[in-house]
Amino acid sequence: MLEATAVILAAGQGKRMRSAIPKVLHRLAGRTLVEYVLAAAREAGINKSILVIGHGAVIIRETLGDNYNYVLQEPQLGTGHALAQAREAAGQADTILVLSGDVPLLKPGTLARLIERHQQSGAVVTILTAEVDNPSGYGRIKRNKEQRVTGIVEDKDATPQEKQINEINSGIYCFASSFLWPALASLRPDNVQGEYYLTDVVALACQQGLPIATLMTDTPEEVQGINDRAQLARAGAVLRRRINTSLMLAGVSIIDPTATYIDITVKIGADSVIYPGTIIEGATTIADGCIIGPGTTIRDSQVGPGTTITQAVVQQCSIGPDCKIGPFAYLRPGTVLEKGVKVGDFVEIKASLIGPGSKVPHLTYLGDTTVGAKVNIGAGTITCNYDGQKKWQTIIENGAFIGSNANLVAPVKVGQGAKVGAGSTITKDVPAGALAIARQRQVNLPQRGKKNDEPGRTINEKGEQ
Ligand code: UD1
Ligand code: CA
Repeated sequence: MLEATAVILAAGQGKRMRSAIPKVLHRLAGRTLVEYVLAAAREAGINKSILVIGHGAVIIRETLGDNYNYVLQEPQLGTGHALAQAREAAGQADTILVLSGDVPLLKPGTLARLIERHQQSGAVVTILTAEVDNPSGYGRIKRNKEQRVTGIVEDKDATPQEKQINEINSGIYCFASSFLWPALASLRPDNVQGEYYLTDVVALACQQGLPIATLMTDTPEEVQGINDRAQLARAGAVLRRRINTSLMLAGVSIIDPTATYIDITVKIGADSVIYPGTIIEGATTIADGCIIGPGTTIRDSQVGPGTTITQAVVQQCSIGPDCKIGPFAYLRPGTVLEKGVKVGDFVEIKASLIGPGSKVPHLTYLGDTTVGAKVNIGAGTITCNYDGQKKWQTIIENGAFIGSNANLVAPVKVGQGAKVGAGSTITKDVPAGALAIARQRQVNLPQRGKKNDEPGRTINEKGEQ
């Protein structure tokens, strides 16, 4: 464990997002922005993180839960003021790592190096910097002739000459707490924005002749702050590329990583193949050797090995091994498919259990249904599970055969090995082994099938009525 306490500044509104949701709660690939920052700190080996919140504090706490140390900044008077609020919560920690809640691309390795540089140099502040082509919007690192850091000037306060500097402040720093807390107490809001700038403590250290260190990242992309939705989308593309690359290196084939959208929370086994236009979200696990997509959305579901899912939408389902799903299937919450189930085209299944080897090949709705093993459900079968007030159960036992276009009016049970004739509307239980037919008997009326020119009137061969 690294001996540092992290403080994450997340009290600002993020006006440029133009959103009712606080900026740090916007999501990328299944995680909020601030959770990426928290994860980077955790993966860098830091065991204590304090979150400074203010704007949207209630919803932030609700979303992230009670496992974090929260400190309230009210009102929000700038980054220096924000950090000062964490003094008590930080206790006796010697090293304070400061992070912004809006830098989701930050890598844990970079944080570990920053802390190491800080601890080795003995500086009172070590700044993570980056050299960028377009530094506008960022604070600039000011250096003297000997290349020593003399301060940080904010974009809004910079002279035209200072704006030329392209070494930027990432907003990520390590501080010696013995320097930091008194320095924060002496800040003044003498700047264009009238805020207490955390960045001003750097000039203070310089004036006091205290050592200042920097670490320049060689991947400037990782310190990009998210301030608007265009930057949010760009960071999303970077994160997806990272997620897809790590899956591919672990043995998953992704035909077109630029057209495949997989959350960071998803697990996929080796030799699975993901076709384009596929979105896999939330707490989803896909086992080895599956074929997913094209054009498939899967959320919060488990998929067993060797299963194929094509052009389907799957939500909160548990799908066994060797199943074949789609094209054009809709599997809704509470659906459980056991081994070797086939679900074909234009089939919707909700809150149902389908036993091993059963087939639901076409044009069917099953809701609140338990289907046994090796059952065949004919095309166009509908479970009528809703009476307008309440949902009812349908049970179809092992080896049963449901003929095409049957309506099963729940609650109803079709016994083991029973058959239902095509076009039947079944309202009573069918005993095991029986054949149930529930439809009008066919009547053939001779000659009455000839051409009609009016409904209900029959015309004879000579054209007479
Ligand atoms: C800040 C830095 C700038 C740096 C840039 C990097 C200052 C004065 N400037 O500018 O040098 O280049 O980050 O991205 O520090 N926050 C609070 N309370 C407040 C104000 C802000 O918690 O009162 C939080 C925000 O929620 C955000 C972080 O601090 O997570 C940074 O604030 P932001 O307004 O985005 O600062 P920048 O203008 O980007
Ligand atoms: Ca920012």
